[in-house]
Amino acid sequence: MFKYCKKLQYPINIKKKDLRMAKYLVTQYGGSNGELAAALRYLNQRFTMPDDIGKALLTDIGTEELAHVEMISTMIYQLMKDATMNEIEEAGLDAHYAEHAKALYPTDSNGVPFTVTYFATTGDPLADISEDMAAEQKARAVYENLIDLTDDPDVIGPLLWLRQREIVHYSRFKELFEYYEKKLKNGANDFLEKPMMNNNNNYVNFLDNFTNDAFSMNKMHLDNNEFFM
Ligand SMILES: [Fe+2]
Repeated sequence: MFKYCKKLQYPINIKKKDLRMAKYLVTQYGGSNGELAAALRYLNQRFTMPDDIGKALLTDIGTEELAHVEMISTMIYQLMKDATMNEIEEAGLDAHYAEHAKALYPTDSNGVPFTVTYFATTGDPLADISEDMAAEQKARAVYENLIDLTDDPDVIGPLLWLRQREIVHYSRFKELFEYYEKKLKNGANDFLEKPMMNNNNNYVNFLDNFTNDAFSMNKMHLDNNEFFM
């Protein structure tokens, strides 16, 4: 269950319109490394985390990313709301205006609409969390690029704060990755029920092949996973 709190996670109060910046910033709404992709990524992946620790972390961070979507959306709205038609045309936002007027719409900074192919769910916690760590680093890098493109302190403040949250999320995901990695090494059987593909491309049940031998199963994981080498 989600409860809406009528307050932004970090205050946004942009006094100066800047369509050029709005055009760049939209990528953190609907781009491949943006907040919408992050929220959907974690809120989908959470169901197949192997224990409550993983489910809780992905729920928490996925929920926070929704709050970041709201922050970015507010910033874009404030940067655009007082623009004249001339300014919209000069900023190259006339195509956006034709479809959406000044309404929000998730695209990247080139105008490419959001797509769910920006994230994956594999059902494998190590694979999914690896993607999550990379996503946080990429989001941090994009925030740094965006900060380079403006000198407005009302824009830089929230961007610096969002950048910092990406660093915190990366650290939390890294801890979770290391926790699951350790569980596999120690022979925990949390992953025993997962079906695996054999060499003939038929699904086989791990339990059948490894007769409930947690060590064998985990050795198989270790052999196939460069993180353990
Ligand atoms: Fe994040």
